[in-house]
Amino acid sequence: MTLSHFQKLDKLKKYIYLLISNLLLFLIFPLIRLISKTYYEKNILPKLINFTCNSRPIDYQRKKVIPEAKGKVLEIGIGPGSNLKHYDTDKVISILGVDPSKELNTIAKKRADKNNLNIEFLIESASNLSVESESIDTVVSTYALCSIPEPNKTLQEIKRVLKKDGVFIFSEHGLSPDKSVSFVQNSTDFFYPKISGGCHTNRDIEKLLLENNFNLIEMNNIYLPGTQKFLGYNYWGKATV
Ligand SMILES: C[S@@+](CC[C@H](N)C(=O)[O-])C[C@H]1O[C@@H](n2cnc3c(N)ncnc32)[C@H](O)[C@@H]1O
Repeated sequence: MTLSHFQKLDKLKKYIYLLISNLLLFLIFPLIRLISKTYYEKNILPKLINFTCNSRPIDYQRKKVIPEAKGKVLEIGIGPGSNLKHYDTDKVISILGVDPSKELNTIAKKRADKNNLNIEFLIESASNLSVESESIDTVVSTYALCSIPEPNKTLQEIKRVLKKDGVFIFSEHGLSPDKSVSFVQNSTDFFYPKISGGCHTNRDIEKLLLENNFNLIEMNNIYLPGTQKFLGYNYWGKATV
């Protein structure tokens, strides 16, 4: 096979992936949820979140931020625990994983057992934390600020629990600066959160951080490769309080 054959095969694979993911996102999942919301949320959604959160481009992003965490760590919206394998055990003293989903916590606990971490889980909302003020060295959030119903309240909680010299590290997806992409993000927002566990693809993460008076030390953006653009505009970096 020549190089152009491989390129054609690669393009074909991308089209097939786009076709299948669009069919699932815009037809099959909404249909199943319409038939039974309880069945969808108990049996399909946790698997869908676990699957998408463990895609290769997202895992690549995790490696850029998670090894920076140190000391007493609080991870908000820890979900299925996909970051656990990336923590540097020489730098981290303990991890507090916060998420209201019991289904995802079951998956996270299995992952925690495989890693040598001092970890505790809190089944609660990150917008109302039962964590002592100024007690945390690093707060971590990956692909969670899109799904937490009250992002402003959550960011205020992050500021409250962080020590004065603490750091907030994040990798999130959100509003694209490109009009054609943000148009899709804004126009699908009436239904996409319903099939994705509350994920709003149109949140402007940088604006949210600045509005909540975080000092941005680092902010980077890319479209995640191999990911639909409306889902894949990524923000990652660090902020202090
Ligand atoms: C797309 S998943 C990301 C999970 C994980 N952070 C990761 O990187 O794989 C979004 C997560 O936000 C969690 N979430 C939703 N509402 C929340 C809230 N009020 N407080 C904390 N986490 C919440 C969901 O349960 C889910 O685990």
